[in-house]
Amino acid sequence: MSLKDNLHESAAALRQRLGERTPVVGIILGSGLGPLADQITDAVKVPFAEVPHMKRSTASGHVGQFVCGSLGGTQVLCMQGRLHGYEGHTPQEVAYPVWLMHELGIGTLITTNAAGAINESYQVGDFCIMKDHINFTGRNPVVGTEPDELAMRFFSLYEAYDPELRALARRVAEERGIPVREGVYLGLLGPSFETPAEIRAFRSWGADTVAMSVCEEVIAARHVGMRVLGISLCSNMACGVEGANPSDEEVFQVAQTREGDFCTLIREVVSSL
Ligand code: HPA
Repeated sequence: MSLKDNLHESAAALRQRLGERTPVVGIILGSGLGPLADQITDAVKVPFAEVPHMKRSTASGHVGQFVCGSLGGTQVLCMQGRLHGYEGHTPQEVAYPVWLMHELGIGTLITTNAAGAINESYQVGDFCIMKDHINFTGRNPVVGTEPDELAMRFFSLYEAYDPELRALARRVAEERGIPVREGVYLGLLGPSFETPAEIRAFRSWGADTVAMSVCEEVIAARHVGMRVLGISLCSNMACGVEGANPSDEEVFQVAQTREGDFCTLIREVVSSL
């Protein structure tokens, strides 16, 4: 079966589980940011394992299920947990749920993650709206002949992060008194954190934040013409910045302390769509 056939089959199976729900926004929740899914009302939960052709999430703290329902009055399909390249998933497998969202008629993707701050003026706990990315994973989900059946092979990543959605997120943040940054995100394969020398190099390239997700999802979303908003929580200073030595525990602890503002920010953005 081709990628396209698989997507049809996955969408049909998922649609059956969603009943009358017709999500218009897709949300991917990163490390420690899963609690937003608990705010979805009239929710139906579908584990990734119950959707044909979907891979399972093996990352710690990633529940690995779709949660579909209403958030701030808007119908959403939320991924509580994501798939990462470092888990051993291929780029196409990582991108698959994004293409599946598109297949379900979802036109907007909000992708979130916990990230290390490279920019020395940022602080732990800051939110950063992605204005662009540097894909340093060395991978691209659109490689091969099968994605070519979904949409054109060559496509632009100019303003991949939708300027209107970014403006909306800035406005919501300001109204709610939540400080936000706007910066360039750099994505890596992981799972090792970076070296201080790498972080210095990335800073000289113009990167403000770094983590191990997002780029493949955003490329897949733009491939099929979805609008994209990306938001990072700076869970730590990147390796070597102010002597930082990041750990997984720190990432989850900080996410927990910023959960309230994160939920407010995303919910209010979604309700304005
Ligand atoms: N580096 C890479 N990935 C991350 C980091 C980091 O500092 N923080 C959270 N995810």
